[in-house]
Amino acid sequence: MQPYLPLTRPTLDEETIAGVAEVLRSGWITSGPKVKEFEALLSAMFGGRPVRVFNSGTASLEIALRLAGVGPGDEVITTPLSWVATSNVVLTVGARPVFVDIDPLTRNIDLAAIEAAITPATKAILPVDLAGLPVDRDRLYEIATRHGLRVIEDAAQSLGSSWQGRLIGSCGDLVSFSFHPNKNLTSIEGGCLVMTTESDATLAEQYRLQGVVRTGLDGMDVKVLGGKSNLTDVAARVGIGQLARLDEFTARRRELAREYCHLLDVPAVRALGLGLPVADFDQSNWHMMQVMLPGGAGHPERAEVMAQLHAAGIGSGAHYPVIHLFTLYRAAGWTDGDFPRAEHAGRSILTLPLFPTMTSADVTRVVTALVGILQATHRA
Ligand SMILES: Cc1ncc(COP(=O)(O)O)c(C=O)c1O
Repeated sequence: MQPYLPLTRPTLDEETIAGVAEVLRSGWITSGPKVKEFEALLSAMFGGRPVRVFNSGTASLEIALRLAGVGPGDEVITTPLSWVATSNVVLTVGARPVFVDIDPLTRNIDLAAIEAAITPATKAILPVDLAGLPVDRDRLYEIATRHGLRVIEDAAQSLGSSWQGRLIGSCGDLVSFSFHPNKNLTSIEGGCLVMTTESDATLAEQYRLQGVVRTGLDGMDVKVLGGKSNLTDVAARVGIGQLARLDEFTARRRELAREYCHLLDVPAVRALGLGLPVADFDQSNWHMMQVMLPGGAGHPERAEVMAQLHAAGIGSGAHYPVIHLFTLYRAAGWTDGDFPRAEHAGRSILTLPLFPTMTSADVTRVVTALVGILQATHRA
């Protein structure tokens, strides 16, 4: 029996582990010099833009909304096919998410449908680069600029991706990343926000730590209501170790994704009705390798495919069930059929293992198992 192949696995090297031990022995383990160092490295990568780190991507998004002045009475246009954090943060600041269906090709928000959703209450657009495939930034900002809207890029999954040669985060309005363990770069938990002004960065620091502003040795004031979402130095040291290898991780993911697509994009597999992701090996960071299972009569349920993959020693995932059909969101009025393309994807999308230390043999193993499962049910 071959070892279990998980859906994902962080790559933490010995140098990083030793660095963490050093921080633990240093006497300063919460936010301090390593947080500052991590922020400086991230800022350098993003062309010198101000960056602040937080203890989650969710906190980063929420603070981005606050910086953009989004609050009660405001609407934020976003996608229903994402991790629920994307729209939960909109509710958290008292605003209303306005969902727009997805583009079935990219599986990202349908840019052509955004303008019809804009109302006088619209304050911002909150797009997501699902699986790391970048939303068309030129069209996005053209729409936002024309309507005077802020953009909060939920780039939680797209660290290392680029648009037309520009690294995601190096341009644009507010850009938020996550460092959750399944992301391309992890700080165990964590996230960061790239901003456009130093005054926003100063305000972000206040939002992340109780609104506190210190002056002199003993002066302290609080003018805004902040929370508690600072990153620890221990976590920052993990992130620093990861950042040094981000280009290598991205290159390896692209290689593996290319191998997946090479094996899957053949007539025999296409005939099984499998939907493939956009074959973008230059811009996407391939945070996830996602296929769309054939649905309807004669085809296995996704849960059945996942169970059979699991029995073959292979992990898989469903990213994501659509947000608007969760109980909390249904209670606010959304219902089945509101966003048919996203709902179809939410039912049939399947995430296959993809992480930098996987081998070509692992890719072949996953494809062989998946095709075998689909063929067996196709014939039955
Ligand atoms: C698209 C998206 N948005 C937001 C988040 C929230 O990030 P975190 O889990 O670090 O809070 C995640 C990651 O989990 C995500 O994938």
